[in-house]
Amino acid sequence: MEIIIQPTPEAGSIIAAQIIAKFVRTKPDCVLGLATGSTPLATYRELARMHREEGLDFSKVTTFNLDEYVGLPPEHSQSYHAFMDEHFFRHVNVPRAHIHIPDGMACDVPAECARYEAAIIAAGGIDLQLLGIGTDGHIGFNEPSSSLASRTRIKTLTQRTRADNARFFGGDLAQVPFHCITMGVGTIMASREVLMLAFGKNKATAVAAAAEGPITAMNPASALQMHPVVKCIVDEPAAEKLTRREYYRWVYQNKPIWQQISG
Ligand code: GLP
Repeated sequence: MEIIIQPTPEAGSIIAAQIIAKFVRTKPDCVLGLATGSTPLATYRELARMHREEGLDFSKVTTFNLDEYVGLPPEHSQSYHAFMDEHFFRHVNVPRAHIHIPDGMACDVPAECARYEAAIIAAGGIDLQLLGIGTDGHIGFNEPSSSLASRTRIKTLTQRTRADNARFFGGDLAQVPFHCITMGVGTIMASREVLMLAFGKNKATAVAAAAEGPITAMNPASALQMHPVVKCIVDEPAAEKLTRREYYRWVYQNKPIWQQISG
C-alpha cells in the first residue's frame, strides 16, 4: 500500500483528483468505482473544475457506486443517488446510462445485488475504485466482521456508523436507515486499482490498523494489504498513528520522475 501524506485534506484531494483525471485521460472509457461520505467531496469539486476549465471529458466513463441505503428512494436528499447527483454527476458529463448505483428500493434485494455484480462484470470490471474509510475501518458499508471475500449484498449498519452518519440526517439518529446494499470487500478487491482517502484525527486509528495492522475482518480496509495497487492519501491528523509515516514521506519525496503524480 502506498501511503501519501499531505498537509491538508485540500492538498490530498487535489492529488486524488489528479490521479483520477490522469486515469480518465489515459483510458477515456474507464470504469470508475465511486464513494460517498464527506471525504471525497473536495476531490469531486476539483474534478468538476477540471471538467469545466480544462475540458476533462467523462463522456465515455462508466461509474459504479459502492453502496446505497435500503429504503431511501433516489429522490430522498440523503440517498446516495441524490448525493452523487448533487456533488458530482450534475457537474460533469458522465452519461446517465453509464451511472450505476445500487437500488435501495428493490423489492428483491438479493436479485438486485446479483444484478449489480453482473453489471460490473459486463462493464469489464472496475478500473479504479475510490474509497473513504469509516472510523471503524469499514469500506463501502462493509462493517467489521464482514467477510473479506464478500460480494454485493445487504448489510446491517453498526450503531457507530449510524451515529457517525446522523449528521447528514440533521443529527436525527432515528432517520438513519439500518440497512444498506454495499459492494463486498471481494468486489472492491477485484478492482484493478484502489485510491483510498482518509482525512482527520478520527480516522487515525482505522488508517493505522488498515495499513499496518494484521489483515482482519475486524478492519475490512486491512484486506487492501493484499491488493497489488493501492494508494492511500491521508492528511497529517489521519497519519498520526502510522508507525512508519517518516518512511512513507521519504518514499513520496524520492519517487522516480516517471512515477510522480501530475495532472
Ligand atoms: C460512509 C460510507 C463510506 C465512507 C465512510 C466515511 O458510511 N458508506 O463509503 O467512506 O462512511 O464517511 P466520511 O467520509 O463522511 O467520513
